[in-house]
Amino acid sequence: MQKRFYRKHLAGSFDSGPRVHRPGVRPPAPSDSPALAQLMLDGYRGTIDYEGEELEDAVEAVYDYFDSNPMLDHSYILAAGDRVRSAVLLMRRSSGEPMVSYVMTAPKAKGQGLAADLLELSLAGLVAAGESSVCAYITDGNTPSERLFKRAGFVEVTEHSES
Ligand SMILES: CC(C)(COP(=O)(O)OP(=O)(O)OC[C@H]1O[C@@H](n2cnc3c(N)ncnc32)[C@H](O)[C@@H]1OP(=O)(O)O)[C@@H](O)C(=O)NCCC(=O)NCCS
Repeated sequence: MQKRFYRKHLAGSFDSGPRVHRPGVRPPAPSDSPALAQLMLDGYRGTIDYEGEELEDAVEAVYDYFDSNPMLDHSYILAAGDRVRSAVLLMRRSSGEPMVSYVMTAPKAKGQGLAADLLELSLAGLVAAGESSVCAYITDGNTPSERLFKRAGFVEVTEHSES
């Protein structure tokens, strides 16, 4: 699966003020790991990015995320009880640039604008914090993800820096 590199420049963007928060939207915490792992498994299963992973793989990926310079203040989840319905998880790369590591929505909640809303919140927070850009890798042919990121203003670029 070929991944393509996308970036959105934020310098000069306006922070257009507080967004409407859906109930249950908040930054993630390490204690959300089990629910995030379940969301990851359910959200990715059956998509072009699913390669037969099991729950234990998702648990490991979520633990790796929390160990990898996560930007929790700029990440958002939509929690419903002990479940997470959608999540946008950012980390800071070694270059210093923020990167969207994961975006995922539970199967029954897809197509309702949840990921778009959470991504918008993240982007607004990055603008308010004075970050100049944000990047993401998207698998070629992941149509929902390509649409989500392009609509949010990301454009495909040739990467010249480290991954
Ligand atoms: C990508 C993903 C997070 C989008 O979540 P979502 O909450 O459904 O997103 P939204 O409802 O905000 O919709 C985002 C875009 O995806 C489109 N979309 C949703 N379901 C789609 C589908 N089955 N096929 C094509 N496009 C679809 C929407 O139409 C929307 O595009 P638009 O604004 O141009 O209409 C979700 O599909 C998912 O969890 N996929 C598996 C994980 C994944 O691939 N993550 C990205 C890795 S780079």
